[in-house]
Amino acid sequence: MKKSVILFSAVLLFFTPSAYSQQKDVLIRVHAGQGKQIISKHIYGQFAEHLGSCIYGGLWVGEGSSIPNTNGYRTDVLEALKKLQIPNLRWPGGCFADEYHWMDGIGPRDQRPKMVNNNWGGVVEDNSFGTHEFLNLCELLGAEPYISGNVGSGTVEELAKWVEYMTSDGDSPMANLRRKNGREKPWKVRFLGVGNESWGCGGNMTPEYYADLYRRYSTYCREFDGNTLFKIASGASDYDYNWTEVLMKKVGTRMKGLSLHYYTVTGWSGSKGSATGFSDDEYYWTIGKSLEIEEVLDKHMEIMDKYDRKKQVGLMVDEWGTWFDVEPGTNPGFLYQQNTLRDALVAALTLNVFNKYTDRIQMANIAQIVNVLQSMILTENERMVLTPTYHVFEMYRVHQDATYLPIDLIADTRVIRDRKVPMVSASASRKDGFTHITLANVDLDTAREVKIDFSGLNPSQVSGRILTTKSITDHNTFDRPNLIQPVAFNGSRIEKGVLNVSLPAKSIVVLEIK
Ligand code: AHR
Repeated sequence: MKKSVILFSAVLLFFTPSAYSQQKDVLIRVHAGQGKQIISKHIYGQFAEHLGSCIYGGLWVGEGSSIPNTNGYRTDVLEALKKLQIPNLRWPGGCFADEYHWMDGIGPRDQRPKMVNNNWGGVVEDNSFGTHEFLNLCELLGAEPYISGNVGSGTVEELAKWVEYMTSDGDSPMANLRRKNGREKPWKVRFLGVGNESWGCGGNMTPEYYADLYRRYSTYCREFDGNTLFKIASGASDYDYNWTEVLMKKVGTRMKGLSLHYYTVTGWSGSKGSATGFSDDEYYWTIGKSLEIEEVLDKHMEIMDKYDRKKQVGLMVDEWGTWFDVEPGTNPGFLYQQNTLRDALVAALTLNVFNKYTDRIQMANIAQIVNVLQSMILTENERMVLTPTYHVFEMYRVHQDATYLPIDLIADTRVIRDRKVPMVSASASRKDGFTHITLANVDLDTAREVKIDFSGLNPSQVSGRILTTKSITDHNTFDRPNLIQPVAFNGSRIEKGVLNVSLPAKSIVVLEIK
């Protein structure tokens, strides 16, 4: 064993978490030889709902718009999104999905019926963005579509026919209707959500009743012409462990995935709190709430393990992210919020957690892609900004489909929401001969010296990028769109086989090691 490794082991032994909590140094051991699981790229999924200006104005402006567009899709947004290598995109909701009737969104646009978007601001939806527009967008992005089907107010026949319309290649009525509407070949649609939040906006059902409905609806969603379906049941909200228990018991491996929704909502003073104006205490509260997801996941996964030891059913966190008060002066039903470095840290911490449970977590979708909640992009007429969260997703692309490397991490802690929260979070993976480590220091004021040992693997080269800014409330605006963006990071050096990193306060770093 090398001298540096022996030294590191001794330090690890000496610094038990409690003894270490006074220190400002952080020790990480990457078990470089122990990687077994692949981090599903689908953990880096996105979500687009007919809500506020996510679709209309955000993704879609139509061919006739003065805003530069590619077949109706905003060109600036499209190009920015391509850089994220989005693995899958969930649509059309959310709550909207359970009132959506897909047949209203096909055929000539000027003849499509209109509807009222009852969930989101009561605005009139003209259905100009429908099945073709969505599936073609997925093709442009290279993302797999994730269709969220209507169980709350739709029929079994309606959902069955939607699947046929999208995926059948035969001489079938729905395939012929699709051809009449201009698309000869079917699309490939694998991910199919059977309802959304069926305990709430998706029908206010009991888990027992929904479990029966899932079995019935999913029976008639057929696999046409080589298209395989990955059927996902509507899952629990946050701490509703009974929902998971009942679904696992009554549906079990009839579903491929079971969803879970977890939002980081700042319940600090009754309201959700401002996205950009918050105290240090509120900041740490939010960090604590976002990290609580690990405990919540653990409990849901424990229940799933009880019924499915072989881990055949994936846990799909198909809605997650921060949820704050809307920006002053905007429609409360549009959920339009700004995005600071705090949001970026929440994204970094959460993705580090998801990577760790990649044997059960097969998908996650941040809410939402443009202009809604913790979005990647904000638009205002022809202008666009990339949010700090966008940059995290771009920096973390390296983990997509990489081999997860287990790590031990010893860091000082701070008590947040009655729990000791480590000030540094990390995740490591290996792909194409490179090891990548993502690191986040949530401390607002103090940097950390991080020592990273690779258990025998000798690093020879390191390069990296960092995302940080002066104030935690900083955010990119239409007038200062690049205030927060990743820059080259020069704070790491290799000494005697150990990687030393000076990790600034409130920062996110991605390192590439050879
Ligand atoms: O993402 C916004 C909403 O949050 C979704 O429509 C719903 O599923 C959830 O409650």
